[in-house]
Amino acid sequence: MTRVTVVGAGFVGMTCAQRLAEKELAEEIVLIDVIEGRPQGLALDLNEAAAIEGYQARVVGTNDPADTHGSDLVIMTAGMPRKPGMDRSDLLEVNGKIVNAVAGYVAEGSPEARVIVVSNPLDTMVYLMAARLGFAKNRVVGMAGALDSARMSFFISEQLGGGVADARCMVLGGHGDSMVPMPAFSTLNGVSVTALLSEEKITAINERTKKGGGEIVALLKTGSAFYAPSAGAVAMAKAILRDEKRLIPCAAYLQGQYGLEDIFMGVPCVLGANGVERVVELELSEADSASLQRSAAAVRKDLETLREKGLL
Ligand code: 2OP
Repeated sequence: MTRVTVVGAGFVGMTCAQRLAEKELAEEIVLIDVIEGRPQGLALDLNEAAAIEGYQARVVGTNDPADTHGSDLVIMTAGMPRKPGMDRSDLLEVNGKIVNAVAGYVAEGSPEARVIVVSNPLDTMVYLMAARLGFAKNRVVGMAGALDSARMSFFISEQLGGGVADARCMVLGGHGDSMVPMPAFSTLNGVSVTALLSEEKITAINERTKKGGGEIVALLKTGSAFYAPSAGAVAMAKAILRDEKRLIPCAAYLQGQYGLEDIFMGVPCVLGANGVERVVELELSEADSASLQRSAAAVRKDLETLREKGLL
């Protein structure tokens, strides 16, 4: 039996559970949260929806980490979302403590699990999760590039008047304002976006992509995006559970690739049963290379703060 645990029953967690169930990616989906009643209520609702939708997956809502034991895959979504005006880095301390607690019970009860981290600030939280779990680093991966490149794909299709299903974009670097959209590696079914849109339009799309999360936070006022983040996390979960070997930009552990050492950051990865099975190194322009290094410096600054606070 395949068991997938979703940690955190907020909007991202609950939509992850729904997508996992509807796609029947596991026989059992465990939704865990510290709030009493919420995961149980959502699980009951999803199990009742199965009578209409016809999916076979069963959802278990719980507050007890023991119920997550033996998970094949864990999607970590727990943490505070941003409020308008907040930077993702403002969540370092509060979410760092939550990641530490969750890593404890995942390491103990699900030693074989592959782990996808969604909590923010993403690149720092995935580093912390991997450090605390002590698993092989390829089994721990962060979801950000899937989301950022989906946003870029939508913005491009909007400019072109449609075709979102054919848009394949690449966004590298940290999941923050320093992320690096890569129009040179973004296509509509193989046709470079640089051949389809003016430089001016592409620059505007790059800027909107970098601030894509903030745009939604400002509109929602009481939370952050969840449909596209959960879609990204579940696409990665599917690639791992079904050993699809999909190439998706993810926050992966780097050991020299792109000239970066001992850091998790967004790069193109091949995802399969072993988690990150390969990091693909693209030949970058000097400007993109410099942007990636700047993005890494921003991630390292957050890691330093985490160390100063004794959380790492
Ligand atoms: C986003 O970009 C919340 O970081 C998340 O929407």
